[in-house]
Amino acid sequence: MVKLAFISAVAASLLAVRADDCVTIQYPFPAGQGGNSTRADAVKEEYRYVWAEYAKYAFGQDDLLPISHAGTNDLFGWGATIVDGIDTAVVMGLTDIVTSQLAWIASVDFSSSAYIVDEFDAMIRYIGGLLSAYDLINSKLVPSGTYDPANVTALLTAATNISDHLKPMFNTSSGLPLANINFTSEQASNCNPIEPCDASNTAVDTAICGTLILEWYRLSDLTNDSSYRELAQRTEANLISPDQDLIYPNIVGSSLDVNTGKYTNNYGGWQGGIDSFYEYLIKTYVYAPTEPSTVDYKDYWVGTVNSTMKYLASHPFEHPELTFISQTDNNGELEYAMDDYACFAGGNLLLGGRYLNDSDVFDFGLAVTDSCHSLFNTSAAGLNPFAWSWFNATNQTYTASDAQSPANVAYANKAGFYVTDAGWGAFPEPIESMWYAYRLTGDAIWQEYIWDAFEAMLRDTRRNSSEAFAQLSDVTQPLGGALQDYVPSFFFAEVLKYFYLTFADPMVVSLDEYVFNTECHPVNIQSGTCATS
Ligand SMILES: *[C@@H]1O[C@H](CO)[C@@H](O)[C@H](O)[C@H]1NC(C)=O
Ligand SMILES: *[C@@H]1O[C@H](CO)[C@@H](O)[C@H](O)[C@H]1NC(C)=O
Ligand SMILES: *[C@@H]1O[C@H](CO)[C@@H](O)[C@H](O)[C@H]1NC(C)=O
Ligand SMILES: *[C@@H]1O[C@H](CO)[C@@H](O)[C@H](O)[C@H]1NC(C)=O
Ligand SMILES: *[C@@H]1O[C@H](CO)[C@@H](O)[C@H](O)[C@H]1NC(C)=O
Ligand SMILES: *[C@@H]1O[C@H](CO)[C@@H](O)[C@H](O)[C@H]1NC(C)=O
Ligand SMILES: *[C@@H]1O[C@H](CO)[C@@H](O)[C@H](O)[C@H]1NC(C)=O
Ligand SMILES: *[C@@H]1O[C@H](CO)[C@@H](O)[C@H](O)[C@H]1NC(C)=O
Ligand SMILES: *[C@@H]1O[C@H](CO)[C@@H](O)[C@H](O)[C@H]1NC(C)=O
Ligand SMILES: *[C@@H]1O[C@H](CO)[C@@H](O)[C@H](O)[C@H]1NC(C)=O
Ligand SMILES: *[C@@H]1O[C@H](CO)[C@@H](O)[C@H](O)[C@H]1NC(C)=O
Ligand SMILES: *[C@@H]1O[C@H](CO)[C@@H](O)[C@H](O)[C@H]1NC(C)=O
Repeated sequence: MVKLAFISAVAASLLAVRADDCVTIQYPFPAGQGGNSTRADAVKEEYRYVWAEYAKYAFGQDDLLPISHAGTNDLFGWGATIVDGIDTAVVMGLTDIVTSQLAWIASVDFSSSAYIVDEFDAMIRYIGGLLSAYDLINSKLVPSGTYDPANVTALLTAATNISDHLKPMFNTSSGLPLANINFTSEQASNCNPIEPCDASNTAVDTAICGTLILEWYRLSDLTNDSSYRELAQRTEANLISPDQDLIYPNIVGSSLDVNTGKYTNNYGGWQGGIDSFYEYLIKTYVYAPTEPSTVDYKDYWVGTVNSTMKYLASHPFEHPELTFISQTDNNGELEYAMDDYACFAGGNLLLGGRYLNDSDVFDFGLAVTDSCHSLFNTSAAGLNPFAWSWFNATNQTYTASDAQSPANVAYANKAGFYVTDAGWGAFPEPIESMWYAYRLTGDAIWQEYIWDAFEAMLRDTRRNSSEAFAQLSDVTQPLGGALQDYVPSFFFAEVLKYFYLTFADPMVVSLDEYVFNTECHPVNIQSGTCATS
């Protein structure tokens, strides 16, 4: 099928709707423009570098400890960095590295683990990473025959195998999953031996329950086995049809009871614990807009965004240029506080605003993204803190004692917010949103912001060449304070991929062909008919 050509570069007319409902959203960059190969190559070299460190000190373990020069198993011992990081290497065309990653994955027995497996990480990092590598290797990006076909097929087999072993988690009266499972005994529970746990606690985070529809819809489509989509639909039905009153329409609490299927509290917002539930409502609609269930998800998202703009958006005192999305307490009172995770919201609002052709939502997304960017250029280290709060319109803070701190007042006078957790954990979310802003507007200012962040990251985290890419303790200090001994697998999956895709040719993993899971793993949009070339 032929894509309807863009007829105008004016923002309001960017959206093109085809007769077959295939919507294209990415900014129409002229052929060969929009990338910067010098910068893309620089990002690729950093992947090569940190991969070599992992391969040398930690190959086959889950994560690299960059200061101890060792590895650690904290994600079920299947080599999380390899599975989470392979699709980034595929996109970068690092064929030698991908070949070794595929061989590793083909050799792992994903049907057993010495550890308790949690549904969320298994879903977003492993299943998401496997499906994404499978889709990308089978796309026009990779010449056929580049990789061993048996080892490519093994990606899909592994995603299926892990998924089958997660199914018993959903055997609850509501259909909501328990958080953890022992693959050997098939015993699901909320308990993980490495964390303190009350065995009678049946509450599970909203994000855990709401972050599987995209992966399992894709898996069902790739395998022709509807069982994954059906389990996901049953779970999601609880989340979008709460049989209870919410304080604000479509602003849900942060956990649900797997027995009753009801939200257990009213802690609201787009922060960690809730975040990717909202994210997937619109993304799964973009993935399969003609599937009836996803229309319900999209409608719920529209209501959430409406309430977010109405009730949760907040401009700090004397800083009208900033727009933050506040979290709420259990009574629905705004806390005038936000965390790094919630900065994904800017990009999600941009994606949905453009896809649904709603310029109010799109503009709100730009404002939130720009405000998350301000966390970078106001910090001494040039990187964003993990959490921050602000003085509200009447110059008050949620936690009254915060206002007594001269340091908070001084920081807020300058920056518009004050820092409540200054750590930098190599999280991608503000960069993710800036990347959506770039791919959807074509405005090169976002590339410059992202390049500044990349350079700050190199300066701070590679200051000692033998302790590369450590996390940072305090971005309010020059160079970010102390180095911390951990490189999370999402550094490979997300941070390096968003940096790279900012400077790669924008036709590489176009937003008209792919939708990204919450761990930055792109999967092919279901119809496959939105392809731009
Ligand atoms: C591409 O990146 C290089 C390195 O940062 C920079 O010097 C150059 O100006 C950039 N080119 C464009 C067209 O932005
Ligand atoms: C495919 O994976 C298997 C199992 O790990 C490995 O023995 C084989 O060498 C891999 N194929 C290639 C071409 O690397
Ligand atoms: C999982 O269950 C098996 C069989 O009951 C048991 O031997 C094993 O210790 C359990 N694993 C963990 C990590 O608890
Ligand atoms: C999962 O892996 C186990 C062990 O390798 C194998 O016996 C089983 O058939 C696999 N299942 C699927 C669905 O691939
Ligand atoms: C589901 O749980 C019930 C008891 O809670 C048990 O009897 C049944 O065997 C379980 N089914 C599966 C498929 O695990
Ligand atoms: C799924 O079905 C389609 C259409 O019938 C077929 O082309 C494809 O090979 C099937 N895939 C699998 C994994 O069975
Ligand atoms: C937005 O929210 C308001 C108040 O909650 C409601 O009256 C209105 O119908 C909502 N609009 C949409 C499009 O959801
Ligand atoms: C998008 O919305 C604008 C008005 O906000 C309208 O003029 C335009 O026709 C819409 N475009 C599409 C493709 O629906
Ligand atoms: C920081 O970035 C914001 C946009 O996010 C911009 O408006 C502001 O001028 C920048 N501040 C500095 C000090 O560069
Ligand atoms: C500002 O925050 C305080 C403390 O939470 C609250 O009592 C007050 O109503 C808020 N002001 C406005 C305008 O919302
Ligand atoms: C805002 O509140 C802070 C902390 O209470 C106070 O120091 C400052 O003077 C107030 N600013 C204005 C303009 O009232
Ligand atoms: C750099 O890292 C090495 C190895 O961890 C360490 O021995 C050395 O003291 C560090 N150098 C500085 C300047 O921190």
